[in-house]
Amino acid sequence: MMSLTNDAIAPHGGGELVDLVAAPGDRDELRKAAAKLPAIVLNARDIADLEMLSTGAFSPLTGFMGEADYIRSRDEMRLASGIPWSIPITLGVAEAGNIKPHSELALTDATGKRLAILKVSELFKVDRRREAEAIFGTADEAHPGAKNVTAAPPWCVAGRPVVIEEIPDRSFLEYPREPRATRAAFRELGWKKIVAFQTRNPTHRAHEYIQKIALEVCDGLMLHPLVGETKGDDVPAAVRMETYRVLLDLYYPKNRAMLAVMPAHMRYAGPREAILHAIVRRNYGCTHFIVGRDHAGVGTYYGTYDAQKIFERFKPEEIGITPLCFENTFYCRRCAGMASFKTCPHTDEDRLLLSGTKVREMLRRGEAPPPEYTRPELAEILVRSMRQN
Ligand code: ADX
Repeated sequence: MMSLTNDAIAPHGGGELVDLVAAPGDRDELRKAAAKLPAIVLNARDIADLEMLSTGAFSPLTGFMGEADYIRSRDEMRLASGIPWSIPITLGVAEAGNIKPHSELALTDATGKRLAILKVSELFKVDRRREAEAIFGTADEAHPGAKNVTAAPPWCVAGRPVVIEEIPDRSFLEYPREPRATRAAFRELGWKKIVAFQTRNPTHRAHEYIQKIALEVCDGLMLHPLVGETKGDDVPAAVRMETYRVLLDLYYPKNRAMLAVMPAHMRYAGPREAILHAIVRRNYGCTHFIVGRDHAGVGTYYGTYDAQKIFERFKPEEIGITPLCFENTFYCRRCAGMASFKTCPHTDEDRLLLSGTKVREMLRRGEAPPPEYTRPELAEILVRSMRQN
């Protein structure tokens, strides 16, 4: 395992980065063993969790959760050890069948490819509605995260996986995607104070504004889009990646901003996901994390600043990465620049306040949002992609 320099931020929980990927020299033997094991088929979200666990992005988790971690993370946002953890990470199976503690299972993708061997530690049954209500505040089908959780099977197999094959269908491989890769890049760049920006949307001027404010007081920015599964009407990751590339090329200094990807799937858990997002970015080696308005939100399920307030429920040193919280930002005609409710004394009449839904409607009609909302070079990419769909 690569050792971290003393001044790098420690992974969450204070230990080493977890590594659950088999050494290349051991793989042939493990493949042979996996071929003989009973198999469970993972969906795309399970595979994303497997990848996050195996690379240490979910440190200190060393596998799919057992019952004690599951219950405490659901009810108290902590692992059984007391370390903060705001969303259960489980592997659901429909039937308990013959699965026994201390046995081994092969984890496959939908094509039957055996990706990992799971050493089963426990099998337990959960109430998915209760889980959804705790995590999202609702078990409503209309909530995309709640829908996934309530549809997940009731049995959970806990245990430590060892990954024996490349995770399939990974895209954007030219960008760092593992904590070890971003930590190495930060060392090379000499960045010490590093701010991470989580995003599942194209970068609009509001995003750029808060990133650059943060960059004024940090050494570097890691633009860190989530590229796992998102809800159907979010802009696809490939289109977003094109916008991030163009934006960084044209409007960010080369040695101060870096594009890296996070293979996690989006849960739309608002405040609880903000905590998870922050912890994961700590594992990626960042010291600061941007939390704006309605972080990881969807519809009207959360209050605008709930995802910021939730950090008050932990001691700063327990989370370890510093949240940088921003008010709702926008372009104001009278300020003649980007501003926020905190800095702009004018009224909504002077402000360009467009909802995501309204922008999507404009793009579908082939209309570019105004340049004060989206840079024209990015609007062009978005309009073109809408036309192709
Ligand atoms: S998210 O689901 O990943 O949170 P999005 O990509 O839109 O969605 O947001 C990325 C980050 O920017 C989040 O921290 C969010 O709170 C913040 N953000 C988005 N738009 C604004 C805005 N207009 N003002 C302030 N913060 C914003």
